[in-house]
Amino acid sequence: MKTALVAPSILSANFSHLGDDIKQIQEAGADWLHFDVMDGHFVPNISFGLPVLKDIAHTHKLVNDVHIMISNPREYAAKFVEAGADYLTFHYEACQSDAEVFDIIDIIHKAGAKAGISVKLKTPISKIFPFLYSLDLVLIMSVEPGFGGQSFIRDSLGKILRLRNYLDENELKTLIEVDGGINETTALECKKMGAEVFVAGSYVFGAENIKEAIRSLKI
Ligand code: DX5
Ligand code: ZN
Repeated sequence: MKTALVAPSILSANFSHLGDDIKQIQEAGADWLHFDVMDGHFVPNISFGLPVLKDIAHTHKLVNDVHIMISNPREYAAKFVEAGADYLTFHYEACQSDAEVFDIIDIIHKAGAKAGISVKLKTPISKIFPFLYSLDLVLIMSVEPGFGGQSFIRDSLGKILRLRNYLDENELKTLIEVDGGINETTALECKKMGAEVFVAGSYVFGAENIKEAIRSLKI
């Protein structure tokens, strides 16, 4: 199995010197940059949005992995791709119908980016099986979205495995990314279930040795 990709989440970075923090994780071997957009409605927290993405998206060589936790993804999807998203991931739970999900995937692809969908803990993974032929990535939440620094919830392990099996049975190359409470131990458990990309906020930006923290996730 390929070495996992590491996507540090800048939600845990220090915004007073964000550029330096991004440079540091790039030099420390990160692969992607995870960008958590929260609207204070879909999740009980407000983070950052288009102006910040526009300013940082082309200041580094990492893949811009944008995770939008917003209530109206269809309205903003193309704008986030224009601002610099390489992968744009929206939430299944923010959509009113399967037709809307397909629409948003189409908008993201037409704008020139890769499309991802995210599912919260309580959402059965089978809900997104109909979209897998059109998706480039599935982001499995292993915490309730809205905050960094939470503990990993083990129920997500079974979900990763079910998705892995479904993708392999159908010979699909959709990437599996996992988000929330990832550290050296929980990453290994997720890898065994078939995860390929690890988001890590507090574990990386809270580490004394960021290089060592990122290296420990490249499994
Ligand atoms: C939470 C976000 C996560 C979060 C991860 O809603 O989607 O990306 O920043 O932070 P840690 O790794 O600290 O759980
Ligand atoms: Zn995230």
